[in-house]
Amino acid sequence: KGLKLYDPGYFNTAPVRSSISYIDGDEGILRYRGYPIEELAENCTFLEVAYLLIYGNLPSQRQLADLEFEVSQHSAVPQGLLDIIQSMPQDAHPSGAFVSAAAMSALSLFYPDANPSHMATNAFLRTSGKPPVLPSNNFSYAENVRYMLDSMGNKSYKPNPRLARVLDIIFILHAEHEMNCSTAAARHLASSGVDVYAAISGAVGALYGPLHGGATDAVSKMLSEIGTVENIPDFIQSLKKKKRRLSGFGHRVYKNYDPRAKVVKKLAYEVFSIVGKDPLIEVAVALEKAALSDEYFVKRKLYPNVDFYSGLVYRAMGIPPQFIAVPRMAGYLAHWLESLDDPDTKIMRPQQVYTGVWLRHYAPVK
Ligand code: CMC
Repeated sequence: KGLKLYDPGYFNTAPVRSSISYIDGDEGILRYRGYPIEELAENCTFLEVAYLLIYGNLPSQRQLADLEFEVSQHSAVPQGLLDIIQSMPQDAHPSGAFVSAAAMSALSLFYPDANPSHMATNAFLRTSGKPPVLPSNNFSYAENVRYMLDSMGNKSYKPNPRLARVLDIIFILHAEHEMNCSTAAARHLASSGVDVYAAISGAVGALYGPLHGGATDAVSKMLSEIGTVENIPDFIQSLKKKKRRLSGFGHRVYKNYDPRAKVVKKLAYEVFSIVGKDPLIEVAVALEKAALSDEYFVKRKLYPNVDFYSGLVYRAMGIPPQFIAVPRMAGYLAHWLESLDDPDTKIMRPQQVYTGVWLRHYAPVK
């Protein structure tokens, strides 16, 4: 009864038309609103890029100043939400704590304009056993994240400007990536008419899976498990036996080096020059080299993705990898607005191919 295209994983299904970002996976190209990601990472701040994604063009000086002012004015997390965060178990896994903190649906009850980075920061402080810290109006967006994480409320604390810049760039790289699993989840939820908070809460839940944004965390754990360069050949063999996957490698769309991964690799060395070298970088570089010259990975066109070096960068900066959800808010919001404006938006309701029993009749349990 009617043709249904069986497409597990949506390899061949495009549920939306979008003008936000563009990927050419064979060439390793990523553009936000037409701008190459490398140019934005080199020249912009995260808030400029957030403006670009959400409103479609880079801001004028005035528009940027207004956005920076608005963001700093709406930075405080409402007390009711802080109370919820403070009631979380201190040994909760940061991902669970973040998903709950990003329970934007709860936030919408308190304060429609609140700032996601400050909720995430306080959720992380809670799971690290530290007291909440209020944001400061004296700092840029990225500096504020560093201030809240590191200052313990000491007002004379000054964030390292180079580390803040690295965080800004990482935020730009993680801000948007077209129909990835969590953005698709946000658009799916939005299509039913839920509010933006419910749509984004669902998206953040999807983001933390180890095949998606959770790979940032998984890579650091995997590198620690491998421990030394000598263990790499055995590890590669175990991957080929399909016992597990190489976290931070492979991508649904990129069949070439992920352009974001190249930028993050450079950032890793920048961070190590400030905070000291993480010995796992040697394991990461040797693992990348071994995989890129191994037939299994070559044949399947598996290259490092953005998460391969991100985990080490976040770790070296003392930022929990779950923070990738913060910049992705810009992408989620851009897609949310696009879906509202799109006359083609319909409730997303895929078909299924039924494989169950065709027909049977009830028999009483006795
Ligand atoms: N390690 C080992 N083998 C792999 C890997 C990997 N990382 N990725 C794919 N393969 C193999 C897979 O086993 C399959 O082999 P075969 O053809 O023999 O069955 C082939 O490559 C194709 O894999 P697939 O599962 O059909 O590819 P997919 O497009 O469904 O999966 C992916 C994409 C990102 C989920 C996958 O590459 C993966 O699991 N990577 C590791 C997790 C990771 O790094 N995720 C972050 C992705 S980037 C950012 C984001 O989206 O959040």
